Amino acid sequence: MAVSNLKCRECDATYPLEARYACEHCFGPLEVVYDHSHLAGGDVGELRRRIQAGPQNIWRYADFLPLVDGAPGPSGRLASRVGLPAGCTPLIRADRLAQRLGLREVWVKNDAANPTHSFKDRVVSVAASRARELGFHTIACASTGNLAGSVAAYGAAMGLQSYVFIPADLEEQKILSAGVYGTNLVAVKGTYDDVNRLCTELSAERDWAFVNVNLRPYYAEGSKTLAFEIAEQLGFELPDRCVVPVASGSLFTKLAKGFGEWQDLGLIEGSLPTMTGAQADGCSPVAQAFAGGQDFCVPVKPDTIAKSLAIGNPADGPYALDVARRSGGSVESVSDEEIVDGIALLAQTTGVFTETAGGVTTATLVKLAESGQIDPDERVVLVITGDGLTLEAARGTFATHEIEPTVESFEALGARNAAEAWAR
Ligand SMILES: Cc1ncc(COP(=O)(O)O)c(C=O)c1O
Ligand SMILES: [Zn+2]
Repeated sequence: MAVSNLKCRECDATYPLEARYACEHCFGPLEVVYDHSHLAGGDVGELRRRIQAGPQNIWRYADFLPLVDGAPGPSGRLASRVGLPAGCTPLIRADRLAQRLGLREVWVKNDAANPTHSFKDRVVSVAASRARELGFHTIACASTGNLAGSVAAYGAAMGLQSYVFIPADLEEQKILSAGVYGTNLVAVKGTYDDVNRLCTELSAERDWAFVNVNLRPYYAEGSKTLAFEIAEQLGFELPDRCVVPVASGSLFTKLAKGFGEWQDLGLIEGSLPTMTGAQADGCSPVAQAFAGGQDFCVPVKPDTIAKSLAIGNPADGPYALDVARRSGGSVESVSDEEIVDGIALLAQTTGVFTETAGGVTTATLVKLAESGQIDPDERVVLVITGDGLTLEAARGTFATHEIEPTVESFEALGARNAAEAWAR
């Protein structure tokens, strides 16, 4: 067992590995600490082979995850044989996108290829497994959309009760793709920040594992597996830059933690990739703080089509700012129009149809390329965190040619114009 305890990120106070998320002394957030001394100082090749021999899912990184019994499952069996394995999603070389942007090497990490179509399956796998270790029978969450589907699905797969709390104005596709798993779906009349506040209150009253509230330290660790996979898929090498969507800032921060843990063990060499955070103009508290040179975020009221990133008061905002600054990166924001263009550009150059969060990420890469903020020779990884479930965002990005079922009708379209449109 590599996991040792919880530690306050602000004052270093330590705590046992309980369902606890805030420091009693300073209210700082708690983080999981590991003891990797049994892995350090040995043969790096051996350690790499040990990882490569693991299951084709996130549990190949069990040495770096906060499960006391190692990889979880009933009677300690590998999680890959139970539940809903997440991870090992494709890293796709995107030469057509790179060419369009005047860049040399762009990779798309397609985390839409997870069981419920977003990277949230990584964090929920870890949190739900830890919830079971801690003896909880109910998992719950405050969600901007994707977490809802993931918690509902893992509850179903693992035989746990689930409650998911969402803002009432969520996209219908996200509601349908959570409700189908037979969860208790609660639509709250308010913003995500209202939902989160309610869930924080409820977590003090109920004996439930709120994956992103009282189990947040464990939940957040699941995002590190995205960093491990990127490095492993690049042959245990680091990219020069990662472009990553930011809502609460947890994914962005934990990607850096994951790279750091592997650097410490010599599994990968080089410095932390330049970390570029991506937000929507209509909810950009971290980008605004970055631009203003502040180390804290001023909460905002979200107004954007990127609802999955619509967190106005980001819990990990200060840590995300720190990661951006110490990696030589930045946190950028893009307009709703640019998000739609980003979705279409990614789809039309790579065949990957992402949701609005991926539109934010792609549009941010476009912005970096067009403004010359990126060296054309950099090896860039674009982190695509969710599938095109936000279908409405694709409306207007293409034309449909309606005809009678006759050759004449088709030819009347003006085959030349149509061919041009279709060849794009
Ligand atoms: C698709 C998608 N991408 C990225 C994020 C950002 O996650 P975080 O809150 O860890 O910054 C979310 C979270 O809500 C999401 O749903
Ligand atoms: Zn503290």
